[in-house]
Formats: sequence, structure tokens, C-alpha cells
Amino acid sequence: MVGHITPEFRDQLLARTDIVEVVGGRVPLKKAGAEFTACCPFHNEKTPSFFVSPAKQFYHCFGCGAHGNAIDFLIELDRLSFPEAVEELAQRAGMPLPERGGAPQGPDPKPLYALLEQAAGLYQRALREHPGREAVVAYLGRRGLSGPVMERYGLGFAPPGWDFLLERLGKSAEQRERLVTAGLLSERDGRRYDRFRDRLMFPIRDRRGRVVGFGGRVLGDGEPKYLNSPETPVFVKGRELYGLHEGQQVLRSPPRLLLVEGYMDVIALAQFDIPYAVAALGTAATPEHIKRLLRSAPELVFCFDGDAAGRAAAWKALKTALPLATGQQPMRFLFLPEGEDPDTLVRREGKEAFEGRLADAKLLSAFLFEHVGARHDTTTPEGRAGLADEIRGLLATMPAGSYREQLAAELARRTGQPVQRGGAAPRPRPAPRVLPGVPTLTPLRRAVALLLDDPGRAALVLEQPGDWRELDNPGIRLLAEMVDIASAYPGITTAGLAERWRDTDQERSVRRLADAGLVALIPQEGRGAELVGIIQRLNRDVAAQRRAAEIERRWRERHAPSDGAGD
Ligand code: UTP
Ligand code: MN
Repeated sequence: MVGHITPEFRDQLLARTDIVEVVGGRVPLKKAGAEFTACCPFHNEKTPSFFVSPAKQFYHCFGCGAHGNAIDFLIELDRLSFPEAVEELAQRAGMPLPERGGAPQGPDPKPLYALLEQAAGLYQRALREHPGREAVVAYLGRRGLSGPVMERYGLGFAPPGWDFLLERLGKSAEQRERLVTAGLLSERDGRRYDRFRDRLMFPIRDRRGRVVGFGGRVLGDGEPKYLNSPETPVFVKGRELYGLHEGQQVLRSPPRLLLVEGYMDVIALAQFDIPYAVAALGTAATPEHIKRLLRSAPELVFCFDGDAAGRAAAWKALKTALPLATGQQPMRFLFLPEGEDPDTLVRREGKEAFEGRLADAKLLSAFLFEHVGARHDTTTPEGRAGLADEIRGLLATMPAGSYREQLAAELARRTGQPVQRGGAAPRPRPAPRVLPGVPTLTPLRRAVALLLDDPGRAALVLEQPGDWRELDNPGIRLLAEMVDIASAYPGITTAGLAERWRDTDQERSVRRLADAGLVALIPQEGRGAELVGIIQRLNRDVAAQRRAAEIERRWRERHAPSDGAGD
């Protein structure tokens, strides 16, 4: 198991990895000047627009916009998770992985996994043997669950009473402490007791099959209907997907994944031979959920109730999905008839009819235009302008590429506006070195791009006397951090520098700014001077900002009523 991966470890890993080898092992590369080129593995093309830079340790496709470092390449091409990609590169580079319990110490999670597994076993056995099991067996009968599917999902029974687990697993003080940490015991007034009592138990497994938590349903009416494990060191709700592991046990490469709401939905669908449904655990789908789903199957269908609440939830999911929508994997939205959920529906109409609904589910693009379109009257110029503004705002959150361009073209068709750039017009073929419509960047962002282009330029920045870091501007922090890292790690590549922002709010913008295309228009020799020029200008700005503040302060001093004798 990979432990915590520190930024230093990633630096070393990327320093010891040659992206040309990593990519070259998968795609035949040809030398092209200082770089290598190939037909892009991320989209279909006949003439190469995919480039790999040995100096930057970065790849970039001028056709579809794919770009990143060696870690990203494995994540994108092989659909690996971040730790998996790191593991693979570390193996190639012969670097021992940081073990669990490395730098930032948490307690060893192994005993927690063991405890959760034992609890699942006890609940399962109670379902078969406990003297008080009649009610739960009757309930399961009413819900129509079959034996094999209950077995596959490891359903169990938490008997009534306060100490079923406490008595069996809490023999020592240390164990009782762990039961609390694992979310299996609750504490009140210094007393500890079983969290789950008299409930039908659904073990929640992570992707590798380890029990990380539970959901427990009341037998009949009662509040709460489902009681869930709290978040614990091994259970992070925004990350886990209920049913993913169990589904993959029967279907290794599912044709699609279906995101539904409930435990019972997942299980009922599995019973009807649709083993590719998963549920987010009582929360809206997170970006992490969606990334994981897209890594696990070629297509994703979101399933919602047909009522207003379902529509609102679907819209929220769409907005979460847009930044991940490359168009390479279709995403669809299925709206169920009112009053139905997947559990009731599949039982009523069976597998084929249900899968028919999946095939007919709305594409993301259709839902997008339908939902926004319903809010604007497109028979008037005002309505069309509103529609255009709203859709453009949404498209801005998407990754650049053909899909986004197609949606922009669709917007243009619907509003009767000419396509601005890219869009429906055929992409200009020649001169792949210049990105279509290189955006004009603010000076600050241009500085970041120039630094990423060659992190060695940090030295030039440090040579400039001035206080640009104190400028009151939201982008300054990023530039300052980048200068600090680049100067603290001489020899760091574009790849290594950009890597520091993975999983931060700024990851996307940093990766974009690391794109070769952004600085392609500035001649190589002029880039250092350009950066210095920007820093000098920032230094002048900060001086001006100070003068203005000083003038304001004096003015206030003169005009504000002074409180006291004054000096
Ligand atoms: P639903 O209320 O739609 O229930 O909650 P359901 O899944 O159809 O369950 P049954 O068919 O009545 O048994 C959907 C999901 O929301 C979470 C659970 O994950 C549930 O499966 N939920 C719901 C809770 O966590 N707590 C609750 O009290 C209710
Ligand atoms: Mn239900």
C-alpha cells in the first residue's frame, strides 16, 4: 500500500523518469527538432499534433488540448488513479515507495480495516443465526431480495441492544478505542455503546474490497431511515462509491456505470443482472466520484427522480461533471417517472426495459441546452443573449478541446450568432505550433506561464529589487509560491513544478499555464526579458499602490475627527 506521497518524492520520481520513455513505450514517437511527435493517443487523427518535450518533461496535443506530465499520461491513458500511476512510475524508476506511516503520521489503519471486516462478519452471521432475526428476515422478504445477491453484497443484521459489537469486539481498552474511531461505537456521557442497533446492515467496501463503513436501514418506518458510518480515517464519503467493488467482481469491464441514489437501488439492479450501478453515499457526486467513475467504464449515466428535486440534483451533477467532460466518454442523464426509483422500476419492468431507458437517456449536451433553454425566451434578442451568456459561463469551466467547441457551435446555431473561434469551422490544419486562439493572458498569468516554461527563470525574478509580492492581487500568491519552489529546487522541470499543484484549487489553471502554446508566440530568446519586464512592472505597481494608500491615510488623518489630544 502506498503511503503518503510527499512533494519531494514526486520531484524525485519525475526527475528519475523520462517522459519520452514512458510515452514512447505506448506510442511510436518520432524525433522533431528538440521534441518528439506522434499521432495523439487521446483522440483520432491522421497527422501528428501530439508533442513530447524532453526538456520540460511535458506532453501536449495541439489537436485536442491533452497535456500533462508522465503521471498525467498514465492516469489519462491507462485510467489509473493517482497513487497507481505513482506506483507504476516508481517501479520503473526502481524507487522504493514511501510506506504507510511515513512522514505525516496517522495511526496505522490496518487494525481498523480488520475490525470493520470482523464487524461485517458478525452482522452477516447474526442475519443467519441471531434469535431476534425474524423481523429482518421478514423485511427482506417484503423487499424481494434474493439469497445470492444478499450474499454478494454481504448484507447483515445489527441486533437490537446496546452491546452486540461492544461485547464481542471490545475486549480491551485499546480495542474499544478503535471501535469508536471506526465509527462502530458511539459515546455519550463517557459511556460507549453500539452505533447500529436493530438495523439491516449494508457494508460499504472500497474499490479494493475492504470494508470501510456501514449503512444501516431501519426495519420499517423510523428515523433516520438510514444511519451511516461517520467519516473515519478509512472512510471518506466524497471518495467511495457503494457497489463499485461488488459490481466489478462479476463484470470486470462494465459497458457503463450508472450512478443511482440508494443502497437498495444498487442491489435491486444487481439482482436483475445490471451489476454496474453504484451509489454516492448520501451526498451529491463529487469531482472525485466522477473521475473515478470515468476511469472505470467508458460511459457514465446519472440517474435521478423525475421530480423537481431530481432535476435540481441532476443540474448540480452536470455542473460538477463539466470540468471533466472531454467528450471522449459520453455522459448521460436518466430521469425516472415520478414516484419510481431504480429499485421499484426494475422490479416492475425488468432488465430489458430498464436498459432501454439507459440507452435513450439524455446526453449531457441535450440536458444542458434543455435546462438553460427553459429559463430564456429565445424568440427575443434579450432571451437569446441571456441564454448565450449563461451557456458561455458554463462552457468556460470545461476543458478546452473539440467537445467544448462543438457545444459552442451548437450555442451559435441556437442563438443565430456567428461562431467566435474554433467552433464549427474546420480546424486549421497547418502550423500546429501555435494554439488556435492563444488567449491573451494578464501579465501575472503570463509571468506564471513563462516561469513554468523554464523554471530556471526564477533566478531572474529573484534578481529584481522590489516588493511585488506585497501587491494586493489574487494571483500574486501563486506566482510567489512558484518562484519559491523553483528557486528552492534548481533543476526542477515544468512537469515537476506543475505537479506541486495537483489536487489543489489551482491545479487546472496551473496545468493550462504550463501549456507550451501559451508562450509559443514569444520568441525563445525574448522570454526571460519578458518575464523580467513583467516583474519590474509589478514592482512599479506596488510602489504606486503604496503611494496611493499613503495619500489616503494622510487625507483621513486630516479629516477624521481625532480622538484624544492628537500629536
Ligand atoms: P431514499 O430515501 O431514496 O431511500 O435515500 P432508498 O434508497 O430508496 O431506500 P429504500 O428503498 O426506502 O430502502 C437514498 C439514499 O440516501 C441515503 C442512503 O444512502 C439512501 O440509500 N439516505 C437516505 C441516508 O443516508 N439517510 C437517510 O435517512 C435517508
Ligand atoms: Mn427505494
